[in-house]
Amino acid sequence: MAIIKVHHRFFEPFILSDEIETRIKDIARQLSEEYADKNPLFLAVLNGAFIMAADLLREFKFQSEISFVKISSYEGTQSSEVIKELIGFTENMNGRHVIVIEDNIDTGISMKHILSQIEKENPASIKVATLLLKRNTLKHNVPFDYVGFEIENKFVIGYGLDYNGLGRNLPHIYVEKEA
Ligand code: IMP
Ligand code: MG
Repeated sequence: MAIIKVHHRFFEPFILSDEIETRIKDIARQLSEEYADKNPLFLAVLNGAFIMAADLLREFKFQSEISFVKISSYEGTQSSEVIKELIGFTENMNGRHVIVIEDNIDTGISMKHILSQIEKENPASIKVATLLLKRNTLKHNVPFDYVGFEIENKFVIGYGLDYNGLGRNLPHIYVEKEA
């Protein structure tokens, strides 16, 4: 499979769509068992988690709801430690079983911020499903209950993840090629 160029950087195939599909189905199966009669509220973090959320929700076999939030603080290839506003946080979560869907936990600052907001709303439970986890770069103690793939500290795009806006539509996950 070919190397691709995005904004003057080069990326190579890393996790192929078949592998991603299998893993998402596994997680959905687990969630279906644990939340069968709970009408969970999925809360997907835009923009990156939109594809995972769509795939995961179609494989979740029971009644559920979904809503979306967005943090606008991230530019380039470095996670920003500066968290801006959480947009779209309007759902009533009181007594709900909330499952946050994220594309990637890097430093954990975004997740920490999102979880602290949810906790204030008195949910019955909160769990985190993340497509990717960069365990070595974690700086904040955040839970990750369902992890698609643990990866090294490398920059990736595809399957929802972008590099300055591009690459979200790639069906596979690509990793930046070392120079
Ligand atoms: P954190 O707040 O440092 O954990 O960063 C999490 C956010 O940074 C994720 O929601 C992603 O949108 C973004 N991010 C982290 N690593 C990558 C990457 O390798 N590619 C694209 N986006 C990333
Ligand atoms: Mg994100």
